This record gives sequence, C-alpha cells and structure tokens, in this order.
Amino acid sequence: MKTEGYNWTKGADLDDHSRRKHKVLREYFRQYLTVRCQNPHQAKFRLAIVDGFSGSGRYNCGAPGSPIIFIEELSSALEEINLNRAGRGLGTIEIEALLIFNDAIPSVTDMLRSHCEPLLASLKDSTQKLHVSICYFSGEFETVYPRIKDLILKGHYRSVLYNLDQYGHTGVNISTLQDMLRGPLSAPSTEVFYTFAIEGLLTYLSGRNPMLLSRQLGHLGIEPSNMKALEGLLSKTAWLGAAERLVYETLKNCALYVSPFSIRNPNGWRYWMLHFANNYRARQVYNDVLHDNGQLDHFGRSGLAGC
Ligand SMILES: C[S@@+](CC[C@H](N)C(=O)[O-])C[C@H]1O[C@@H](n2cnc3c(N)ncnc32)[C@H](O)[C@@H]1O
Repeated sequence: MKTEGYNWTKGADLDDHSRRKHKVLREYFRQYLTVRCQNPHQAKFRLAIVDGFSGSGRYNCGAPGSPIIFIEELSSALEEINLNRAGRGLGTIEIEALLIFNDAIPSVTDMLRSHCEPLLASLKDSTQKLHVSICYFSGEFETVYPRIKDLILKGHYRSVLYNLDQYGHTGVNISTLQDMLRGPLSAPSTEVFYTFAIEGLLTYLSGRNPMLLSRQLGHLGIEPSNMKALEGLLSKTAWLGAAERLVYETLKNCALYVSPFSIRNPNGWRYWMLHFANNYRARQVYNDVLHDNGQLDHFGRSGLAGC
C-alpha cells in the first residue's frame, strides 16, 4: 500500500500539483452535472460516485480533498442548475447521489466521516433537492471493489463516476478498469479518473531482464508478446519513451475515449491523470476543461512527457 506523502493524522500538505488536479476534477464534475441535468423534462438525476482512494477529505490548510469537492459541487451546481431552470420557466430537478468513499487506512476513513457529516447536515436545509447517501469502506481498493460493484448493481445506477487517485501505479489492476468500463455488468454511463505514477513505474523497469520486466508490467496486462516494441532500441531515452507509449497504448484499450493529463510533481515523479469514458460528449467536455486549464497541448510530445 502506497501512502507516502499523505500523513493525514498530522495534517497533509496540499502541493501545487494536487491543487491543479483538484481544479480540473472540480471543473469537470460541475460540467458533468450541468450536461447530465440539461434535459428540461427530466425531474431527477441519479448517480453513484466512487472515490476509491479518498484520503481524509481535508488538507492541513483547510482546503478540501476530492470527496469534499464532490459534495460541494453537487450542492452548488444543483443550485445553479435550478436557478437557471427557474429563469427559463422550467421545473426544478433533483439529484440523488450515492457516494462510496474508500481509503485503505481506517483512521483516515474516520477522519473523512468527521469532515463529511457536518457538511452534509448543513446542506440538508439549503439544498432540499439534493439527496445524498454515503457508504464508507476501509480496505485495499482491489479487495473492496466487488462490494462496491454490488452496491452499484443493486441500486440500479446507470451513471457512475470513479475517482481512483492512487499514489503509485499498482493499486488498481487493468482487469478492474476493464470490468468497470467494458464489463458485462458495467453501468451504461461509466467514467473513471485514474492517477498513474508513470515515472515511478519507468524508473524501475528492467531493460535487461525480460522475466523481471514481464512481472513488472503484469498488473497492466502487458504480455511478453506486446513487448516487441522495446526490442532493438539502443539508447535508454528511446527505450523509456517506447515503454511509456506501450503503457499508454495498453491503458487506452480500457475505454473508447481516454484523455491524459501529465502532471509533474516537483518533489517526486511525473504522473498521469487519465479520464476514461465511452461517450464522446464526456471526452469533449473533459478536453475543454483541460484546454481551459492550459493542459491539453502538453501531452503527447516526446515520450508523452508533460508539464
Ligand atoms: C493520493 S491520496 C488521495 C487524495 C485524495 N483523493 C484527495 O484528493 O485529497 C491516496 C490515498 O490512498 C490511500 N491508499 C493507499 N493505498 C490504497 C489502496 N490500495 N486502496 C485504497 N486506498 C489506498 C492512502 O491512504 C491515501 O489516503
């Protein structure tokens, strides 16, 4: 379990790179709700949000983490959507949201609960059209995923948004991503945000030992036969560039549309925040958010290196 850099009990620092990631997540989620509630005849929108690597919800500066960002945006976006509807003489819309929050560390989940409950209580009066229920889990995401999937299935949720903000690159198997996005029981509208520490993976990849290499790439479902692209490359830079493209091409198969955003952590390694969707409109809206944040053009140059 990778938890370095996040000591929630002592108070975690919110670094600039995480702030940028949160800004993109917040702006996209607001747009997502606006688009999904735009049908004037629609009286209710139901969705499930799964924050699989939730953290405690607050940084030591008081800034919100991803679970609180979801709650804040549900409330403020719904208010804006209904104001806009009223202005056009339309009826209001309600949102029913199931929030599933998981962190591997039980004390972190307890902290999250203590941050969410007062916020939800305060919203009950102000946003009567918002109906939120929260399920908290505390376990390794891969272990908890079958129970999460069961909740979503039993609740008949057709719209599901996952935020898989892992610290490294081994917390989610590629088969799990495929199950969420393309599995026979996956919700018709599923989208996934997925953080992946690409440089952490590349740093330790073995170019000399093919057996070790195939073990290192096993959780991504990359077979030895897929590694032909790495053969015959003489310089280390070319080999790393090819390995990075191989990982990206593999992840790209998990959904119809995959939009990457490469983030440099000045105190650590470069990582990706990937958005997976099967709906073209979702990809368009996400790319617009990236563009507005000056991020769209940074990806895909040499070796996929980013900002
Ligand atoms: C990058 S932080 C999450 C930050 C949070 N999404 C936010 O925006 O504030 C990663 C979190 O994942 C938790 N974690 C680490 N390994 C995990 C695993 N295998 N399954 C679930 N949670 C895990 C850590 O305890 C840590 O709180």
